[in-house]
Amino acid sequence: MQSTLRLGIAGLGVVGASVVRVLLKHADDLSQRCGRKIVVRAVSARDRTKDRGVDLSNVNWFQDPVKLAESPDIDVFVELMGGAGGAAEASVRAALANGKHVVTANKALLARHGVELARLAEQKGVSLNFEAAVAGGIPIIKTLRESLAGNSVTRVFGILNGTCNYILTRMQNERLSFDVCLKEAQRLGYAEADPTFDVGGFDTAHKLALLTSLAFGSQIDVDAIRIEGISEITLDDIEKADELGYKIKLLGIAERAPGGGIEQRVHPTMVPKSSAIARIDGVLNAVAVEADFVGQLMLVGPGAGGDATASSVVSDIADIARGTALSTMGKPSEHMSPYLKSNGAGHSGGYYVRLMVHDRPGAFAAIAARMAEREISLESIVQRARRPSADAPGEVSPHEPQPVIMLTYQTTETAIRAALAEVEKDGHVASAPRFIRIETF
Ligand code: NAP
Ligand code: HSE
Repeated sequence: MQSTLRLGIAGLGVVGASVVRVLLKHADDLSQRCGRKIVVRAVSARDRTKDRGVDLSNVNWFQDPVKLAESPDIDVFVELMGGAGGAAEASVRAALANGKHVVTANKALLARHGVELARLAEQKGVSLNFEAAVAGGIPIIKTLRESLAGNSVTRVFGILNGTCNYILTRMQNERLSFDVCLKEAQRLGYAEADPTFDVGGFDTAHKLALLTSLAFGSQIDVDAIRIEGISEITLDDIEKADELGYKIKLLGIAERAPGGGIEQRVHPTMVPKSSAIARIDGVLNAVAVEADFVGQLMLVGPGAGGDATASSVVSDIADIARGTALSTMGKPSEHMSPYLKSNGAGHSGGYYVRLMVHDRPGAFAAIAARMAEREISLESIVQRARRPSADAPGEVSPHEPQPVIMLTYQTTETAIRAALAEVEKDGHVASAPRFIRIETF
């Protein structure tokens, strides 16, 4: 049997504590599978006095994760603190510079510095593994990096954030408010330290940027992603989508554009209730890949939570223990092509449009005319029930703006944006028009 693989783990929160639990529970099995023992030699976190629910009495403590990363007593540095810079970045750089393998679940760090860190790992001849960084317990990094090596990918898309899917599902099923659902996602350990990363769509964008790089062999470019989160999705939108036969999901989509380049976008999307992606509920994530030889495949599993994420972290550690070494982003960094952004019109398809229309004669006709000018055909237009006024909760004022829902046939994002800008300028609406893209995968 080879020498023991010694780990240093920085971060003992939701994911870090679960990783220690997995390593203890499956110690014997892992050592048989990998041909060597794996031990946690040292750890780091902010608060040494906090009970982590795991026995760390024989483990060295480092207050400074950078010192842990440099320690000659470890072979692998496991970064589970989070954040695109700060302690996470400094300690990962220190570990690689000192010739340690690195395992991380930190998509924010890799979306910003992934190519540079991959290069550093190559120079030092060590691994930089990140299975847990995308879609929690789903082995999508291995799938793209290893299993689909013989394919040219045309599209990769999916539900990549457990917190958002959990919120949207509970809003849909139980008609709970956004805030109540977010608090529950935080309590369950799904959300980022700053949940704006989740609900604002940024976490999905970080993950999509990594998937795009792996799928298309290009450099990581998170700034090229058009990002919309779910904070403005209302219960009314969810109910209306439901009535129309759709569910709302936050999707990340990357695809080869017909005119060249790669289109990446993150936005709430209405998907038919009968589609496979619509049935992915709660904290589950799904990643779909379309490629020339394999065709279509979809991986489904828990996208967040300590145990599911720890499963992925430990798989990366096991690869290092076995001596399996692959390029971080699937190919050596010198062969990664520059990211070429498509200059297309963005999403093309149907749209759900929500307007607050002033109750005046001719308003509907004027709005419909603006849509027609952009060759946008309307599948339906519905005036929602009037709401009671704030002054007289039991009554309805005839002068209050009324919600109007329109569903369009196939059009482009450029056309819909231009038409709605004109509708707003015409003064028939009381607030900025909102729209949700429809996808019929
Ligand atoms: P968490 O519960 O907030 O834990 C963060 C840990 O890092 C805590 O133990 C904290 O110490 C420690 N820490 C923070 N700053 C530190 C510093 N400067 N020095 C030393 N220790 C420091 O976060 P988490 O949910 O486990 O997430 C960790 C990473 O995994 C993040 O990159 C996250 O994006 C990623 N991830 C999380 C999930 C999930 O479902 N939670 C899933 C996939 C990926 P204290 O405990 O002492 O405060
Ligand atoms: N906050 C993230 C999510 C954790 O909810 O998906 C998993 O990356």
